[in-house]
Order: sequence, then C-alpha cells, then structure tokens
Amino acid sequence: MIETKRLILRPFSKNDAKDVYEYLKEPAVNCFASMKLHSMEEAEAEIKKRAGETAYYFAIVLKDTGKVIGEISAYPERGDVHDTTSVPDTFSPCWMLGDAYQGKGYAYEAAYAFFDYLFREKSARRIYAYTEDDNFPSQKLCKKLGMRKEGTFLEFVSFVNNPDGTPRYENTIQYAILKKEWEGEKNGKQNNCLV
Ligand SMILES: CC(C)(COP(=O)(O)OP(=O)(O)OC[C@H]1O[C@@H](n2cnc3c(N)ncnc32)[C@H](O)[C@@H]1OP(=O)(O)O)[C@@H](O)C(=O)NCCC(=O)NCCS
Repeated sequence: MIETKRLILRPFSKNDAKDVYEYLKEPAVNCFASMKLHSMEEAEAEIKKRAGETAYYFAIVLKDTGKVIGEISAYPERGDVHDTTSVPDTFSPCWMLGDAYQGKGYAYEAAYAFFDYLFREKSARRIYAYTEDDNFPSQKLCKKLGMRKEGTFLEFVSFVNNPDGTPRYENTIQYAILKKEWEGEKNGKQNNCLV
C-alpha cells in the first residue's frame, strides 16, 4: 500500500467492482478500448482476475471516502526485449481516472508516489510512457513528473477501427525518465504530494 496526502494506492479487492465499472464502462481514450466493461458481471469477473496483483497494479482510492477513482499500473520489462539475459528494470505506466476526478491533481499525486515506489522499491532504472498526440492531459502529466519527450511515432498503433473497418492508427509520443533524473528532480524541488 502507498499513501499520499489525499490518496491510498492499494491492490484491488472484490468490493471494488462497482467503482471500477463506473470508470471502465466508457473508457475515455482509444488505448483502453479493450478494457471496456459491458456489465457489473463483467466488472466482478475483471476484479477477480486482478486479485493477487499486489505489487504493480493499484487502485487509486480517496482517503476520505474509500472510493476507487481510478487505477495505475506498470510491470517490469527488459529495456531490450530481444536480450533475454538483461534485467527487467524498465516500466511503462498505465494511468486512468474516472471523469469526475480529473483536473484535481489526483493523477499527479498518484503517479508521483507510484514512480517513487518503482524507483526506490522495485529497482526501476527507466520509466517510459506512451501517450497519443491528442491526449494533452496525459502529456502534461508526463511533463509535470519530469519526463523527457523522447520522440513521436507516426501511425504507431491502432486500438479501434474507422467506420469503414480499416484500422485507425494513432500517433504516439514517448516520454521517459531515468532513476538518476528522478533523484535529481526530487533534490531540485520540494514535492508535497507524499504524506
Ligand atoms: C491522463 C489523466 C490521468 C490526467 O489526469 P489529470 O487529473 O488531468 O491530471 P493531474 O493530476 O495532473 O491534475 C490536473 C490539474 O488538476 C489541477 N488541480 C486542481 N486541484 C488541485 C489540487 N488540489 N492539487 C493539485 N492540482 C490540482 C492542477 O492544477 C492540474 O492542472 P495543471 O496541470 O494545468 O496544473 C486523466 O486525464 C485521465 O484519466 N484520462 C483518461 C485516461 C488516459 O488518457 N490515460 C492515459 C493514456 S496515455
């Protein structure tokens, strides 16, 4: 469990199905289209799958009310996927808040604490994020976390089809931060997100 000023990041539990259904019945962006939940039954089944995910997949919970307002996750990857001997010290976060909870600084508070946890406790060396070129809130979040823009991949990936059935390709921007850059950031400025 990770605690911040206003939030708790914790593993999902079976009582979270209703809250998760609330924000996943209409995923806000195409990259989460495959996570769409069509019913409470699907939400309950999804939560069962998440049971046991204790280290890398967290519900973002309001301390005051206990409501699950979103989620954040990232799993260890090898920097070079072809080098099977390398250490899985690279992470790519997925972050999402329900509509009603955006624009209140919760994503930054959660992501800041999550990055700190990955760098300090999970041996992260590099964290990178993909975000579509029209997803300005996510790009802004990357920048606030001190991530560098590494490049833009044109027509990189498709999550949904066009009306004529052809894949709709998205332009994807990559941001990243290294552990040493994170430590520099932390030394350079006070952050009052953490407890
Ligand atoms: C991407 C996403 C997580 C960003 O969430 P967010 O709420 O916009 O991000 P932040 O936590 O940084 O908060 C944004 C604003 O809240 C404001 N805010 C309001 N009250 C605040 C408070 N008490 N403390 C801090 N900030 C506060 C901040 O000023 C900030 O605006 P700024 O960046 O212009 O300064 C969110 O838009 C989302 O879930 N989108 C749908 C899913 C998605 O796109 N995921 C990423 C796929 S690549």
